[in-house]
Amino acid sequence: MTPLAIGGVICKNNLALAPMAGITDSPLRALCLRGGAGLVCAEMVAAPGIQHGNPRTGRMLKLDYGEHPCAMQIFGGDDAAVACAVAAAKREGADIIDINAGCPVPKIVKAGAGIALMKDEAAFARMIAAAVKAAGATPVTVKTRVGLRQGEVLSVKLARIAEGEGAAAVFLHGRYASMAHAGPLDCEAMSATAAAVKIPVIGNGGVCGSATAAEVLKTGCAGVMIGRAAIGNPFIFEQICAELSGAAYQPLDARSRARIFLELLDMCVLRYGPRTGLNRSRKTAGYFITGFPNCAAVRTRFMGIDNHEQARRYLAAALH
Ligand SMILES: Cc1cc2nc3c(=O)[nH]c(=O)nc-3n(C[C@H](O)[C@H](O)[C@H](O)COP(=O)(O)O)c2cc1C
Repeated sequence: MTPLAIGGVICKNNLALAPMAGITDSPLRALCLRGGAGLVCAEMVAAPGIQHGNPRTGRMLKLDYGEHPCAMQIFGGDDAAVACAVAAAKREGADIIDINAGCPVPKIVKAGAGIALMKDEAAFARMIAAAVKAAGATPVTVKTRVGLRQGEVLSVKLARIAEGEGAAAVFLHGRYASMAHAGPLDCEAMSATAAAVKIPVIGNGGVCGSATAAEVLKTGCAGVMIGRAAIGNPFIFEQICAELSGAAYQPLDARSRARIFLELLDMCVLRYGPRTGLNRSRKTAGYFITGFPNCAAVRTRFMGIDNHEQARRYLAAALH
């Protein structure tokens, strides 16, 4: 795979882990880098929380497992709050700072963030400019969508604005906001966007293997961003790299993937402490513990154990 350059950050390949709230925390990012990702993107972090010194929000900026290169994603509707969060993310060692301009969740949009920025070009431009200024030499990127409603392409214009304001790349979800996370990508809109700017456009949406990754790359996008398909399978990046370069690849079987979950559990406990760590790991248990006989029973039993040590012992024995 071709390396991807985002500003001065050179990623070893052009496959990135997508930001996913409640999912792509430090432990999962570290596993995905081990699984071959060229870049990992953190779950979105609320700019006002950073500006007001909320300790839980501040904790989200920490790269506990030294996971690099990492893009820290910030969302907010106020330039000053976003600038403050960008500066904090930079201090914590983020390699890239991404601005969320694609989230359709009503609470986020009401705050003037996410897709609210797609609806207001001036605010979008101001936000990127404020982030670029606060980030200094750290590259700023923006994650957005092809448009709000099917057929009404906005990303060509938005990518040009982002480039004009100093953004170093665009992460482009090829679905319209009205489609949320399901349905086909608008590959024509993705092609037009990639062709409209000199900065890299990294395509996203529905990639679950080398065939779908190749389709995204065919649009002219410089890279591919993978979300849900990486949650229970951090080695998907290695697999896609191998298959796209024509090498044979033996994917992990379902039990081996489930055993990776044990590592994730330990990393979550180290990061959050036993109780919160166990709860946090449960968010992804359904993605990892699947695809083998008896997996539903193993999952159910694991979810019912409240003590980290016991849960770990049970899983280790069940997945032996
Ligand atoms: C549970 C979940 C949380 C998400 N959180 C974020 C987020 O914090 N920031 C963001 O830009 N996109 C977020 N997304 C969107 C993903 O980054 C990605 O664009 C979307 O899942 C499509 O990619 P996929 O089909 O490969 O999953 C989220 C998606 C999911 C499923």
